[in-house]
Amino acid sequence: MTTGTTKRPAAARTATRTYQVAVIPGDGTGPEVIREGRKVLDAAAGRGGFRVDWRAYDIGGARYLKTGEALPSAVLKELREADAIYLGAIGHPDVKPGILEQGILLRIRFELDQYINLRPVKLYPGVWTPLKDKGPEHIDFIVVRENTEGLYAGVGGFLRKGTPEEVALQTSVNTRRGVERCIRFAFDLTRKRGKSKKLTLCGKTNVLTYAHDLWQRAFNEVAAEYPDVRTDYTHVDACCMWMVKNPEWFDAIVTDNMFGDIITDLGAMIQGGMGIAAGGNLNPGGVSMFEPIGGSAPKYTGKGVINPLAAICAGGMMLEQLGEPQAGRAVEQAVMQVTPRLKSLAAGKMGFSTSEVGDLVVEALR
Ligand code: IPM
Ligand code: MN
Repeated sequence: MTTGTTKRPAAARTATRTYQVAVIPGDGTGPEVIREGRKVLDAAAGRGGFRVDWRAYDIGGARYLKTGEALPSAVLKELREADAIYLGAIGHPDVKPGILEQGILLRIRFELDQYINLRPVKLYPGVWTPLKDKGPEHIDFIVVRENTEGLYAGVGGFLRKGTPEEVALQTSVNTRRGVERCIRFAFDLTRKRGKSKKLTLCGKTNVLTYAHDLWQRAFNEVAAEYPDVRTDYTHVDACCMWMVKNPEWFDAIVTDNMFGDIITDLGAMIQGGMGIAAGGNLNPGGVSMFEPIGGSAPKYTGKGVINPLAAICAGGMMLEQLGEPQAGRAVEQAVMQVTPRLKSLAAGKMGFSTSEVGDLVVEALR
């Protein structure tokens, strides 16, 4: 898959290219899937003539419960110096919802200015999709989600909290600069994918008459610089409808943070579920973070039944971003050889254990 701008750190120019990757295995099944991802990426590195130098950080719910600190600033400082970050999952049943998401995941996205959330929606061979009469030839598009603004910016507040007159405000922040850099990235990526070279803007211009007016104008202006890319527009509700009815219409979709969050869960389902869905939080000029998008799945922890393919695919995206596109593609090709052999992508139903699936991908790489 093509993940857009690549980054080639200084180390990549020396004899044995070595990449410093910060690993956050995280909570629940995170460590189990990351273990398989590292196994596969080490194999891909050996084959590609480079090395990955892994540095693990025990960030997550367990540490938060022990220390009361979600993301120590010393760790954040080290993350800034890594070539990339490889994240398992964040989320702990004993921690109130929001604390770890805000304190770790969103904090890293914002502090490192990872302004693109890239989510490929691709149905691999032999994978079951809930969409009737649709196959891999119909489901292959990529969502470019803005990742630092919109409703996620944390702008808002309460008035008269806890009273019957309570008011809660949550404001969507859309800056021309933030929107435009996201749209520009999406145009570049659509061009580079070279598929049907069509970029669809997903918004809600009929209701969000300020925020998405800005998006629409920025989109149209940037489009003029890409005469070879066809453009399209869909309201977000219709987008959900078309993703189910005619997913083959899409090549690349660009959208805001909240809508991107929602449509990519739908995307994950049509590509076979959370077992395979990967994402990258990109700062094309800085440090990017790659993750399976499924969450920590605590009920499967330690059972060896969770599907590691999403983490492995996220690792493939990471290699591409690090400047090893061939190795990144090799990982994806290997995954595509393994998917037809699994009974299902769902946890506990694969017909193989977590580590056996990792082994199958390593074998397929050879
Ligand atoms: C995702 C997740 C996060 C998001 C949550 C955990 C804050 O759902 O990566 O899509 O909403 O961005
Ligand atoms: Mn989400």
